[in-house]
Amino acid sequence: MSRFDEIREKFLEEAKGRTDSRSIYELRKKYLDRKAGEVNALMKEMRNIPKDEKADFGKNVNLLKDWVLENLTKMEEKAREAELQHRYESEKIDVTIPADKDPRGNLHPITQMKNQMVDIFAGMGFEIYEGTEIENDYYNFTALNTPMDHPARDMQDTFYLSPEYLLRTQTSAGQIHVMEAKKPPIKILSPGKVFRSDDDATHSPMFSQMEGLVVDKGITLCDLQGMLDEFVQQVYGEGTRTRLRPSFFPFTEPSVEVDCSCFACGGKGCKLCKGTGWIEILGAGVVNNKVLENCGIDPNEYSGFAFGIGIERAAMLKYGINNIKLLFESDLRVLEQINDA
Ligand code: PHE
Repeated sequence: MSRFDEIREKFLEEAKGRTDSRSIYELRKKYLDRKAGEVNALMKEMRNIPKDEKADFGKNVNLLKDWVLENLTKMEEKAREAELQHRYESEKIDVTIPADKDPRGNLHPITQMKNQMVDIFAGMGFEIYEGTEIENDYYNFTALNTPMDHPARDMQDTFYLSPEYLLRTQTSAGQIHVMEAKKPPIKILSPGKVFRSDDDATHSPMFSQMEGLVVDKGITLCDLQGMLDEFVQQVYGEGTRTRLRPSFFPFTEPSVEVDCSCFACGGKGCKLCKGTGWIEILGAGVVNNKVLENCGIDPNEYSGFAFGIGIERAAMLKYGINNIKLLFESDLRVLEQINDA
């Protein structure tokens, strides 16, 4: 066997099992490296070859070189193909696998309820006025026709910070600020926290109210009921109606308690409405002349109505929550279930 055939055989032997480009590269180096490669090493022997054999020898070296190169190229192509195939396989994306659930927060039910109320009334042209949580006695009571010795003060158990300052017990305090600052027409909505020393399944010492106040020429209780009808239908469903019952608030005359028809039973009577078919949702009334006068608005020229809604109560009714504490405990298992947004 000639030297050349020996090298060919050795090459084929060593090529066996080399299927990845890395080991094929090693083989290429071993045979074709310019300095140490076995094929090139043959060239160095040239000078020991007799003159008349030199041409033949050189030709055979070149043939061998081409042969090795051809083999290597084939192997390399095969390896590249296989490696590419492997990459395709391993990087394949299965678009049918369900995506991991993206944990997302949602707004607190009270915020959702408040936002919905604001949206509805903003749609009717109300502007937002946000008052302050600390008020003085005048704005929270006296200007609202509830002087120091007035029995209506007992309706709201107050947290006093000093003899003069207190945590507002009602967003109605904002009515006075608005009427002092602005002449009619007035159409404001005032959401915010209020505070009362009161604590049971349906009362919390801190809760939220939404005050509404409209003052203009010729405003009556009918305007109030029209707006509230629209409001309850948007919050509790289309068929919901309202009913006014006489009540008392020192800052409104007449005063009413507003009920809406029970959205759970449609008015037939159920557990939610305690068999009456109606659910109390807010207090309201025609702005008392004395309150207008306290703010420098002439009651002979202007009239108005005001209403105050408890936001937690509205949310509890809407979302079927029976204990107000659930709205303040921040238990995610409860909060995650309530998402209207
Ligand atoms: N401020 C009253 C309350 O907190 C609600 C109310 C507001 C009543 C406006 C009449 C008019 O109970």
